[in-house]
Amino acid sequence: MDQSRHLSPALSELAALQTCINQALNTIQEEFDIHHLPELSNFAPKPHPLDEPEFICPPRLYEARRLALATIGQLRNLLQRPFEKVVEQSTAVYETACLDFVVKTSIVDKLAEAEDAAVGVSVLALQNELDIDSVKLTTVLRYLAAQGWFRESAEGVFALTRSALELRQGNNGRNWILTKGKPKVASALMQQLTHPDRAWRFSRQTDQTAFQLSHDTDMTLFAWLKQHPDELRQWASSVQAMGDVHQRSLIVDFKWQRFAQCTLVDVGGGQGNMSISLAKTLPEAKFVIQDLEEVIPLAKQNIQQRLQGSEASNRIVVEVQSFLDPQPRIGDEYSFILRHILHNWPDDACVKILANLAAAAGTKSRILIIDSVITLCTTFTSRSTQATELDDLRAATEYRPITPPPYIPSNFGASAMMPLALGVHLMGVLNALERTMNEWNRLVAQAGLRIVAVHPIRGMESIIECEVVC
Ligand SMILES: C[S@@+](CC[C@H](N)C(=O)[O-])C[C@H]1O[C@@H](n2cnc3c(N)ncnc32)[C@H](O)[C@@H]1O
Repeated sequence: MDQSRHLSPALSELAALQTCINQALNTIQEEFDIHHLPELSNFAPKPHPLDEPEFICPPRLYEARRLALATIGQLRNLLQRPFEKVVEQSTAVYETACLDFVVKTSIVDKLAEAEDAAVGVSVLALQNELDIDSVKLTTVLRYLAAQGWFRESAEGVFALTRSALELRQGNNGRNWILTKGKPKVASALMQQLTHPDRAWRFSRQTDQTAFQLSHDTDMTLFAWLKQHPDELRQWASSVQAMGDVHQRSLIVDFKWQRFAQCTLVDVGGGQGNMSISLAKTLPEAKFVIQDLEEVIPLAKQNIQQRLQGSEASNRIVVEVQSFLDPQPRIGDEYSFILRHILHNWPDDACVKILANLAAAAGTKSRILIIDSVITLCTTFTSRSTQATELDDLRAATEYRPITPPPYIPSNFGASAMMPLALGVHLMGVLNALERTMNEWNRLVAQAGLRIVAVHPIRGMESIIECEVVC
């Protein structure tokens, strides 16, 4: 960001953040009234419309919420004693372990089935049913309750909060959390980054990561999953869960009608959810889902389940095709989608994948990269003279992001945790990374493509639209 566009600071940090949080919360309240949304409650027995993957959040409300969460993060950093922050962060591993425990031992399910969901279930009743020590259960549940997952309705009696509803069977949160391996990989991150062999330390190879070190294997994650079909199925459903969360925004925030007469090739399309949603939006477009041999049956099954013999299923073809090999779909009639693909791969592999598409694409073809564009975590203490503010989005129907106010990081700090945490995980399993705009520009240019536009969406990804350089 250009420093000259910034006015000198007018407020102290605390006062600036107080202004931000007031503005954000007032806007949220106003937007709730405008859109007739029900009150938010942590104790609600069912999800709020805002929690549903299908809900399209009005742009001003979306940005107000992003700003509120970013401000809460900054306020927390400002107000919390540093030593307490150290202890909290260094023990955060127990939050993961405890959450894992309550899902896998079906404690969440028991609380979901409670006779009175608002009251919940006592630890003694849970002990009787599950044969787990109620004293130890209390330690775990009270810790998680302080993080907002449960409510202690009376001493030793716990009920689910609204956040915990996402952990119930059939929800995206449940699909995501059941995928094993993150703590194991995290425990080997130090070894990956400080490996005695310098070639390993600076490696960009997909088979020289914390994943190989922690799983005692030479195989890449994808090769290992191929040999572990149950893990592959679970991994595929967590990938699908991550895709589902912003799927509606991806459809609504981009002018897909431009591709109404095209064949869209969903490169590394996984179970095909992106193509399935687009097939419903574009009734004349055709789709080709390409993936590895072992994923194809999962994609076919998913299409069958989700489209159940509808006309749209006739417009979707599924085929085995590695994106590391030359692309057989050639010419102007094809455009290509790469959703959540390139962030899994190091730069040289990404250039190869994109170059294969550049060689196949016609001049009219588009290559749509759907991934995060990482913004820097720089923080300005003064207001930008060309800022887009919450009130500029009043009654807006098209999404555009606001400018971070003073003392809010350019990437909205706490609101950007999801892509940043995924970035660390991807480094640990694949030596891959989430990329900044400069990094995307370099990568795309090396593959013989150029970026035509970057379309932000109401989610952590953007659509980076590319074309072939003639
Ligand atoms: C993170 S998933 C994304 C799936 C899908 N695009 C989506 O957004 O749901 C990455 C996909 O890349 C596929 N993949 C990995 N290596 C591949 C290769 N060499 N060729 C084609 N697909 C591959 C995986 O099987 C997986 O389905």
